[in-house]
Amino acid sequence: MIIPRPRELAVLGGSVAFHPDLVRFAPQDPSLGEEGYRLDVGPAGIRLAAGGRAGRFYGLQTLSQFGAAVPYGTIEDRPRFGWRGVMLDVARHFMPKDFVLRLIDLLAEHKLNVLHLHLTDDQGWRLQILRHPRLTGVGARRGPSSAGDDRQFYTREDIGEIVAYAAERFVTVVPEIEMPGHAQAAIAAYPELGNQPSRRLEVWSEWGISEHVLNLEESTVRFCQEVLDEVVELFPSTYVHVGGEECPPAEWERSPRALRRLAELGLPGPAQACAWFIGRMASHLERHGRKLICWDEPDRPAVPGTTVMVWRDEQPRPDRTDIVLAPHTRTYLDYYPSDAPGQPPAQPGVVTLADMYGFTPDPGVLGVQCQIWTEYMPTPRQVEYMAFPRLCAFAEVAWGSPNDYPDFLQRLDPHLARLAAQGVQIGPLVP
Ligand code: ACM
Repeated sequence: MIIPRPRELAVLGGSVAFHPDLVRFAPQDPSLGEEGYRLDVGPAGIRLAAGGRAGRFYGLQTLSQFGAAVPYGTIEDRPRFGWRGVMLDVARHFMPKDFVLRLIDLLAEHKLNVLHLHLTDDQGWRLQILRHPRLTGVGARRGPSSAGDDRQFYTREDIGEIVAYAAERFVTVVPEIEMPGHAQAAIAAYPELGNQPSRRLEVWSEWGISEHVLNLEESTVRFCQEVLDEVVELFPSTYVHVGGEECPPAEWERSPRALRRLAELGLPGPAQACAWFIGRMASHLERHGRKLICWDEPDRPAVPGTTVMVWRDEQPRPDRTDIVLAPHTRTYLDYYPSDAPGQPPAQPGVVTLADMYGFTPDPGVLGVQCQIWTEYMPTPRQVEYMAFPRLCAFAEVAWGSPNDYPDFLQRLDPHLARLAAQGVQIGPLVP
């Protein structure tokens, strides 16, 4: 349950004033699952049983959402999916650390448990890497107008703070480092990573998919592995995301050196080269005891032992097994929330609140995730405007609340009032 309603409880005609100090904690009940909880509310007060620490946290979240009075009754509640994620793109527009912390609070309030940070792209590199300092020295600046700007990347200390803050709220921070495509900022910093090392590229100032991709040299593989070595030091997450999607083949097809390399590796084409690159990162991460996750591309061969984030389709294809569903038609918050005129510019496309709520994920997947791509969201306020209230609908899908849209809309009104009171920029409610 994400947004409770009083009648969820079998109302016995009374209520209990809520204060966290009045909650009695029952002994841990493993049958509820690590994230599950049971609330018994009656004349004797509030009793909270949980399967684990996360379950206790979620039980308290539910109680606090009832407000001052909690009606008598019982709630037993647990999530449908273990991965309930939100991706924030901090590459296209850097988001200050304080906003990331605020977003983590909002995730926790909605019982979401993964914050996927999209840290690098053609248009920016936002993570300090000690061994390769130009990644941020060059890659975190875009265009002449950013020359005098504040720092637009996270230091190792920032990441330590974000990861610890998230962990206290049962949120895992999953880092994403894009490769071998969406890497122009890295190539601008280190031209030897590209397919024409004598060429000087800028951090890309346009939106879209840059044709400039990493080369296939062993030295470039090593460079990326060194980056991942620092990433795993900073992020305790089991999963590390390496992007992997939308890697245009033109440069490899034009470069005699890349063609020789493909032949040397026995790779018949670019899709296999991309899979090979990802495979090299997967085995490296495995040596660190971590797992690789990447965006799915239907024409790229499956890389054994990896998890994919499916974004082009609404349901998984049968040849993929470990899956997080992130379909653009249901979970992309950069699309317009409605087709009404007069909205701030957004990515062409519409995903309404109803579209979001109507997403019915295959129950066999690891989880689901919604994405905040920030090409059209230069500020935290715009992120909030685009995220809410659609993120509330997504949270119910991820938790597995009953799929009853009119009922959701009724419960949403007081919930949005609560969020507005917290200062959240609520977008227009468009059913
Ligand atoms: C994506 O939308 N590039 C995963």
